[in-house]
Amino acid sequence: MQRNFDFLVIGSGIAGLWFALKAAESGTVGIITKKTRAESNTNYAQGGIAAVMGKDDSFEMHRRDTLEAGAGLCRDDVVQAIVTEGPALVRELIEAGVKFSAGMAGEYDLGREGGHTRRRVLHAGDITGREIERALLAAVAAHKNISVFEDMLAIDLITTQKLHQPGPNRCLGCYALDEKRAVVEVFAGKVTHLATGGSGKVYLYTTNPDIASGDGVAMAYRAGCRVANMEFVQFHPTCLYEPRAKTFLISEAVRGEGAILRGKDGAPFMPRYHAMADLAPRDIVARAIDAEMKKTGAEFVTLDITHKDAEFVKKRFPNIHAKCLEFGYDMTKQPLPVVPAAHYQCGGVVTNVSGETDIECLLAAGEVACTGLHGANRLASNSLLEAVVVAERAAKRAKAEVSGQKSVVSLPAWRSEKAGDPDELVVVTHNWDEIRRLMWDYVGIVRTDKRLLRARARIQNLQREINQFYWDYKVTPDLIELRNLALVAELIVECALQRKESRGLHYTLDYPALLPAAQDSVLRKS
Ligand code: FAD
Ligand code: SIN
Repeated sequence: MQRNFDFLVIGSGIAGLWFALKAAESGTVGIITKKTRAESNTNYAQGGIAAVMGKDDSFEMHRRDTLEAGAGLCRDDVVQAIVTEGPALVRELIEAGVKFSAGMAGEYDLGREGGHTRRRVLHAGDITGREIERALLAAVAAHKNISVFEDMLAIDLITTQKLHQPGPNRCLGCYALDEKRAVVEVFAGKVTHLATGGSGKVYLYTTNPDIASGDGVAMAYRAGCRVANMEFVQFHPTCLYEPRAKTFLISEAVRGEGAILRGKDGAPFMPRYHAMADLAPRDIVARAIDAEMKKTGAEFVTLDITHKDAEFVKKRFPNIHAKCLEFGYDMTKQPLPVVPAAHYQCGGVVTNVSGETDIECLLAAGEVACTGLHGANRLASNSLLEAVVVAERAAKRAKAEVSGQKSVVSLPAWRSEKAGDPDELVVVTHNWDEIRRLMWDYVGIVRTDKRLLRARARIQNLQREINQFYWDYKVTPDLIELRNLALVAELIVECALQRKESRGLHYTLDYPALLPAAQDSVLRKS
């Protein structure tokens, strides 16, 4: 069965929902999402959304902080556009129903995070993402032009090139697995908006929920898009060290309110690494923690906010406080054990600031895209901002595109006639674990060419096995995600091998220096 829409949206995080709400003003929108509609990285965002709202702040300061964190690789025109267009869209989010925490005198409370020289992070307590999802999903539910399809996992994009049609490559929609009915459906869109988020699950330890398997990057790369800067994987410095917590994030905003990182001996160590100490950019803090742990043999460092008023801590961080208590830690009375974990994909599908990709009628926004805002290291809380600005612009582009198109074409059904039922699903689980562990061990915070080459050889072996499985058997959600995960792992390793320097989040013992000219690492399927 083929379902037709003017605008097809893949993903229901902030980038997908914002695009959908704007596009729905001009036509029908179908949102497909692989789990329940709120499940996304957006839903777990804690710190907030960065935007110039304070009296002591300016676009120029936000721009400079973003460029500084990005270590020479940000695109300045993109930074300017996102920083300056952001505040108006934050006001629109508020009009759409997002309730950010209030501060004194009726203004919004502005938090501070690593790399920011001013307080500029709007937040809803410490559950900002959940509040954004709540408000946007309510608006989506109330819109007659929008249909949402849950448990619908996009497998691959359908393009004119794939169908051997002449002319420039154009996106026509996608194949998606209805996970409940185990059938593959065809979704057609005059324009397709890719908003599938990031790929934290490629690493053994990550702050990301299970949806983050890099599907969008993999689908776009297979369809012919350029992918760039995948080596810049951001490791968040502070996740609770507690096996039962499944890498629970302790927001950087906790350090923004004065928390101090301490080593095994209890002494603060960040002043030895950077002038901004505990509020240095994230790459520096994560590497410092890694170095301290390696030096002292400790399994974690600690994050200490016990010197702050307990009532303030409980009010400012109610979710984090409650979650830590569940595991037996009262952050108002004792320092928390913390370790870094994979958090954010700075690279992705190459787009401009309006979300345009290399394929006609395919737009991308949010974590899946690489606009050039983040460069070699994302400034904290800039991702929600980027997602909303790029989705807004992409919706404008999409509306212009759709107004010139007549009708959706009929697309071929998914081929499944030869595929049998998978015989040994243990291969899939085993390969999932192997990829995630090898990426953690060989492609982590500190890299070497030897480790990267070792990772490349193993990933290539795994890919042979996975591809055979993929073509021989009926597709399952785990298999589709595993195939994507393996490709994303390969793209990270290939980008890392291209970079013969240490810049931002990519730190290699073989090339510790910074090259004079900053260049993107770009890959395209041959
Ligand atoms: P997501 O919100 O991840 O949404 C992706 C959507 O695509 C999901 O609905 C998913 O189910 C769907 N999807 C994926 N693949 C498929 C497929 N194949 N088929 C169908 N659907 C699919 N950033 C900030 O700016 N501030 C913060 O405070 C902050 N805190 C964070 C805290 C945590 C714990 C985490 C994990 C991230 C945080 N980030 C923060 C990063 C930020 O949340 C994300 O970068 C941002 O929300 C990404 O939005 P998105 O719309 O691009 O993707
Ligand atoms: C956090 O709250 O520390 C996460 C912020 C971000 O990733 O931007």
